[in-house]
Amino acid sequence: MKLGFIGTGVISDAMIRGLLSTDDAVSEIVVSRRGREFSQKLATEFDAVRIEDDNQAIMDVADIVFLAVRPQIAEQVLSGLKAPANTQIVSLIATIPIAKLQGWISGGASFDRAIPLPSVAHCNCVTAVYPGAPDVIALFEKLGGAVAADTIDAFDGYAAGSALMATYFEILESSAQWMVAHGSDYADARRYLAALFAGLSDNTIKSPDQSFAALVEGHSTPGGLNEQVAQTFMRQKGGAAIHSALDDVFARIKAASSGS
Ligand SMILES: NC(=O)c1ccc[n+]([C@@H]2O[C@H](COP(=O)([O-])OP(=O)(O)OC[C@H]3O[C@@H](n4cnc5c(N)ncnc54)[C@H](OP(=O)(O)O)[C@@H]3O)[C@@H](O)[C@H]2O)c1
Repeated sequence: MKLGFIGTGVISDAMIRGLLSTDDAVSEIVVSRRGREFSQKLATEFDAVRIEDDNQAIMDVADIVFLAVRPQIAEQVLSGLKAPANTQIVSLIATIPIAKLQGWISGGASFDRAIPLPSVAHCNCVTAVYPGAPDVIALFEKLGGAVAADTIDAFDGYAAGSALMATYFEILESSAQWMVAHGSDYADARRYLAALFAGLSDNTIKSPDQSFAALVEGHSTPGGLNEQVAQTFMRQKGGAAIHSALDDVFARIKAASSGS
């Protein structure tokens, strides 16, 4: 199988590194010369990576083509390209609807959208795809997993969910600062909390049949300290704040999608 990447930047680099560490079925990966630093490094490190100057040539040879340029220049870069009808195109470009891409890229190819995150490089990221062609799902399964959204709203919901990353670190930072105010060394608090949350993530992944609500219960001794903190968090509208933030970012994604 030959893969193509138009736009060789942060996310293409992560996907290519993940794929070449795991997927024997990939015979060649053709990448756009831009960005030059990423493409050159990849081609130097991996025999399977070849650089192409012409984006149309990538469309001509690849079975699956990933679109990974920034949204602001997508129309300019992609308009006028032609993809053979048996090509599978996977757009990683935030907010650009498939109908727009079909207007820019002729030839009757199939289109999917996906939201890989940088940890695909280590094959431990679950990627949201829409609508989710079987070969696209299979490819992301190798990079850590795939969830196929049935509707564009569900897909945009995953995009909103992916915006929780900084909030996760805000929770860690606030907790560490509170511990420092009570006498901890910051580095020790950081190490302690990082391991605590890593352990919780690990347990969560290893118990896929337990809902998060069941895990809250499982980690709350009645009358105990965990129950107390969780109840205070919810009483002070921590849950409502998360819903409100997700509502706002979802609305922003929708507005950008309709305007793009
Ligand atoms: N980073 C993430 O975590 C992430 C996650 C999911 C989706 N995405 C989406 O993926 C896309 C790329 O994101 P990114 O973070 O990888 O951005 P990036 O690092 O800026 O990569 C985009 C690349 O596109 C190249 N490019 C510019 N003009 C081009 C052209 N005419 N032909 C081919 N390539 C061209 C740029 O090269 P130059 O440097 O030469 O301009 C740049 O290296 C965005 O649409 C973003 O929404 C990103």
